[in-house]
Amino acid sequence: MASILISGGNGFLGSYLCERALKNGFDVTVVDNLSTSKEIQVPKEVHFIKKPVEKFNTDQKFDFVIHLAARPSPEDYINNPLATIDSNDIGTRNMLEIARKGNSIFMYTSTSEVYGDPKILPIPENYFGYVNPNGIRSCYDESKRFSEALIMAYERQYRLDVRIQRPFNVYGPRIREDGFYGRVIPRFIDQALRNKPITVHGDGKQTRSFLYVSDWVDATWKFLTINKGKGKVLNIGNYKEISVLDLAKLIIKKTNSKSKIVHLEPREEDPKRRAADITQARKILNWEPKVSLDEGLNYTIEWLREKKNL
Ligand SMILES: NC(=O)c1ccc[n+]([C@@H]2O[C@H](COP(=O)([O-])OP(=O)(O)OC[C@H]3O[C@@H](n4cnc5c(N)ncnc54)[C@H](O)[C@@H]3O)[C@@H](O)[C@H]2O)c1
Repeated sequence: MASILISGGNGFLGSYLCERALKNGFDVTVVDNLSTSKEIQVPKEVHFIKKPVEKFNTDQKFDFVIHLAARPSPEDYINNPLATIDSNDIGTRNMLEIARKGNSIFMYTSTSEVYGDPKILPIPENYFGYVNPNGIRSCYDESKRFSEALIMAYERQYRLDVRIQRPFNVYGPRIREDGFYGRVIPRFIDQALRNKPITVHGDGKQTRSFLYVSDWVDATWKFLTINKGKGKVLNIGNYKEISVLDLAKLIIKKTNSKSKIVHLEPREEDPKRRAADITQARKILNWEPKVSLDEGLNYTIEWLREKKNL
């Protein structure tokens, strides 16, 4: 039976990955400190270790090691800069050591934020980024960039089989909607379902590209398990852009909400535009996003409506 260790496996993306690994007959171990996910949301077959990844070590060998533990929500990481950095420096190093000792395939979920405020759109993987090394978001984007450097050092020095993916705004059921953990889609849906003001930072002309979670899992599983994935860095996202303002309007319409849009102060160093160039993922993984924003929003609205009884 193949084995996989997933850090941050109890989170939004990790929980889907656990399910896919179990479905494929894997023995699944998760290390997670429950810092950004509240209740246990992995199936009971998973071996669950509650621990910060920066304090985790084991002599157990795994066929696959995937490092997802991180604090990806902007308000949350801005409020917890050192914990955010720790999962990406010591945490990444610990997971790499486990992979090195076990001769595992290692995968890292980096982020589209490594591109900062990009000057070219859609963004290809060979764009080096436009990032402020000491700005308010640097605890996240620079530590993700550092992780990538560390991972490539393991590849060059130890010939470890490493694979780096850069997800672009993934959404779907199970993503947190509350407080400063709530990312834009679940936050807008939650506000709309309660007929509360929809809070848009700045003028809302900033764009994002959204990927539905089932498309993310399909791409991730392929990337992890195919030979051609070795040593690659891939954008896993969508090439279609939508402005945050248009997203708010679409969610109001879909939920038949009475909510009004209110504009808050712009977020400091918020990237103005974001869309993924997925030429490489198409070629290497033979993958393409299948779920449209329209469809994905319907599933997410339905889930939140049921969860919150709204
Ligand atoms: N969802 C997205 O749109 C997106 C986009 C880009 C990158 N990513 C990356 O994908 C990964 C998963 O993101 P997600 O959306 O599932 O977030 P999430 O917050 O739902 O999950 C992260 C998980 O990691 C755990 N965690 C955080 N810090 C930890 C630590 N120090 N030690 C152990 N566990 C820790 C949390 O408790 C949580 O269960 C992250 O690395 C994130 O940076 C996600």
